[in-house]
Amino acid sequence: MGKIYCRVFQGMMKIGNYFMGYRMPEYIEGPGSIRRLPAMMKEKGAQNVLVVTGPVLMKLGLPRKLLEELKKAGIKYAVFNDIGVNPTSNDVEAGYKIYKENNCQALVAFGGGAPMDCAKAIGARVVHPSKTVAQLQGVLKVRKKLPLFFAVPTTSGTGSETTVASVITISGTHRKAAINDPAIIPGYAVLDPELTVGLPPFVTATTGLDALCHAVEAYTNHTYCTKLENKLAKDAVRLIYDNLLTAFQDGKNLEARENMQRASFFAGRAFTRGCVGYVHAVGHTLGGLYGVPHGLAMSVILPHVLRQFGPAVYKRLSELADVCGMQGADEREKALAFIEWIEQMKQDMDLPVGADMIKDGDIPQIITWAMKEANPLYPVPVVWDEADFRRLIDTIRQPAPEK
Ligand SMILES: NC(=O)c1ccc[n+]([C@@H]2O[C@H](COP(=O)([O-])OP(=O)(O)OC[C@H]3O[C@@H](n4cnc5c(N)ncnc54)[C@H](O)[C@@H]3O)[C@@H](O)[C@H]2O)c1
Ligand SMILES: [Fe+2]
Repeated sequence: MGKIYCRVFQGMMKIGNYFMGYRMPEYIEGPGSIRRLPAMMKEKGAQNVLVVTGPVLMKLGLPRKLLEELKKAGIKYAVFNDIGVNPTSNDVEAGYKIYKENNCQALVAFGGGAPMDCAKAIGARVVHPSKTVAQLQGVLKVRKKLPLFFAVPTTSGTGSETTVASVITISGTHRKAAINDPAIIPGYAVLDPELTVGLPPFVTATTGLDALCHAVEAYTNHTYCTKLENKLAKDAVRLIYDNLLTAFQDGKNLEARENMQRASFFAGRAFTRGCVGYVHAVGHTLGGLYGVPHGLAMSVILPHVLRQFGPAVYKRLSELADVCGMQGADEREKALAFIEWIEQMKQDMDLPVGADMIKDGDIPQIITWAMKEANPLYPVPVVWDEADFRRLIDTIRQPAPEK
């Protein structure tokens, strides 16, 4: 796909975006806010709900309190929790079956991006009973109002509680792709930082870098962003700069947790219009092919993509560096300081610099899928061709030794 075609498409999309109706969910926030959810659900008319959560969360007992409160409030529920870290179309179908069997009429997504995305896709299936998940993937394929939808994030990374996206791997093909539609933006969200204090440091680190990636990709893309997305991306970057290491080192620090949750929410809203970029396009293939957790893939790829973009992102990255109070004589120096901050933070959190799981034989498939996801939709700073993707993959597999 030619570079000129991509830019023309993006110019048209920029105009189209003004008619998309990107809304934010109605949300409640703050420590303990989860206790207000049953009343909120009742008020909105939810009487029989499917709670979509994860197996680890069930084992940890995190949703138990909510389930007890639902019972007390007289709200009927069924639970679906058979979901992996990269949710598949089979997971969605299994959840959809439980939804139907129990005559549910609302959804509660309780967990990280995996349960939230799975619940969104279940909602899309509810309003499209004759379509497959694969048929709903792409842009604006849902276009119908979902059942009542309440999202409760327990990681601070994906921002799925406010985004247009649901990222699902199609079972049998390993292709991980997104349903992108304002119709699947959750109606309601609960941002309760108490739910995230038990997140292990590694998950805190990788999901936090996912949120950073959303903000940075949306901001460096900039074609689709309005003032609002630019501001939200900058606010998210500053919150992550100030809080991610603290949350990693001291998981019980409620203030850092609360700020990370807000950062994730802001970054999610920023990329809902601003779009993500090549970090996500390549990262999704690593999730689909090798089961790499999304945040880990993001954390590995982000600095390499920014370095490969080179001067094209200096201005925008220097603005993000300014937001964090980083020093530099000019835009280039500030941009490099920003990238070095990411690399240093990764080192401080013991995250890997490269990814050695990529097999030679998979590279053409990775490039095809990444290009299909990103071009022409993502308004990236530099449109890449196959050779550029191959260079990135070579760098990811064999990153230069640390300075
Ligand atoms: N919809 C979007 O806009 C969007 C954006 C980015 C990523 N994603 C998708 O989201 C998925 C990843 O989501 P994620 O990074 O939140 O990971 P996740 O949902 O898989 O959670 C990560 C791990 O942490 C555990 N966990 C979650 N909350 C916990 C808590 N409070 N305490 C202890 N353990 C907890 C989970 O059980 C899981 O093992 C991927 O599939 C990715 O593609 C979606
Ligand atoms: Fe992401």
